Amino acid sequence: MAQIGLNGITKSFGDTIVLQGIDLQIADGEFLTLVGPSGCGKSTLLRIIAGLEAQSGGDVTIGDRQVNRLRPSRRDLAMVFQSYALYPHLSVQQNMETPLRLRDLGFWERAPLLGALLPGRGAKLDRLRANVREVAQVLEIEHLLARKPGQLSGGQRQRVALGRAMVRKPVAFLMDEPLSNLDAALRVHMRAELAQLHRALGTTFVYVTHDQAEALTMSDRMAVMMDGVILQLGAPSEIYRDPQHRKVAEFVGSPRINILEAETDSAGRVAAHGVQLQRRAAGCGARVSLGIRPEHLSLACERDNEGWPFTPTHKENLGADFFLHGHVNGGSTRLVARATPEQAIAISLGQEVRVRPDPGAAMLFGADDRRIRFLEA
Ligand SMILES: Nc1ncnc2c1ncn2[C@@H]1O[C@H](COP(=O)(O)OP(=O)(O)O)[C@@H](O)[C@H]1O
Ligand SMILES: [Mg+2]
Repeated sequence: MAQIGLNGITKSFGDTIVLQGIDLQIADGEFLTLVGPSGCGKSTLLRIIAGLEAQSGGDVTIGDRQVNRLRPSRRDLAMVFQSYALYPHLSVQQNMETPLRLRDLGFWERAPLLGALLPGRGAKLDRLRANVREVAQVLEIEHLLARKPGQLSGGQRQRVALGRAMVRKPVAFLMDEPLSNLDAALRVHMRAELAQLHRALGTTFVYVTHDQAEALTMSDRMAVMMDGVILQLGAPSEIYRDPQHRKVAEFVGSPRINILEAETDSAGRVAAHGVQLQRRAAGCGARVSLGIRPEHLSLACERDNEGWPFTPTHKENLGADFFLHGHVNGGSTRLVARATPEQAIAISLGQEVRVRPDPGAAMLFGADDRRIRFLEA
């Protein structure tokens, strides 16, 4: 079993507090992503799980063992880095054998000449090579075993790095931005491969990325981190549809969620830039922010009186969809609305149209950035 527990983890480097008390229980076999902007503490947290960095406070558990004082090599975890960290002078086969040789062969058995004289070494080597072959088969890199890392493409190197982590059959894989050195198309392809590999292995994955799209597409659950705290933990669809915090809503989703200044009147009715939302919230007379995703805005060319006057200034063509970037009320408030190709063709830049929010999908955030629930109608 390899559930991983983080209980009240804090970390400071000198005067700088990097982690402010992280509580997180990662289930056995789960694909959990730590996602957040650069510098929020993701790598530090992963390194603390691995034992490569000591926490300032709190406990790490793996299975039912508290591992605070356990060396990295004894934690039975495998770390995969962005930089691959392959030995350039060794073949793929040798790269993948290395962790097993270190674990399974004694000091003298590893010695090139003397080792060959030791009884039992041959059988160990056979087992170890069979293990490498098996992993190479799963990753479809058998034909690369004789090559050196310099003779591989980025995607192939990443697969070898994974393979080297897999041969030890660790209780969990820890991955720190493993795809960020690949080009965009390959990155998208490798996302699917990693998710598939996770399903095939059934082993716990803890995956660090700053890329919200990676987190959304691969994870069972994602923990959105900012400034050393977890702002929200949940399934990707929940994080996207039901963010508890404005910063989470803004971080997840591309193009970004629209945020408009809004207010509630004495009856709690919510309005933004002159448009009544037909929804109510507690907290009268308060200044709030309205969050509305580009796909929850509908466009109308006729100038009926509903919705905000919207002047598009840029059309972003994504093939199946367009995103119209512009501003509302002729002012400085920027807005992005999704449009069908037909709508996008019908609307010219600089031409004022109307955009109407879907009130069921709008979200309200308080001055403290926390989510405010609408009252039932
Ligand atoms: N060894 C270190 N010494 C001092 N500060 C560090 C050290 N490692 C990381 N930091 C700081 O801790 C913060 C979080 O870093 P990191 O965990 O690498 O963030 P992320 O992986 O989310 O980009 C950053 O501000 C970084 O500068
Ligand atoms: Mg990092």
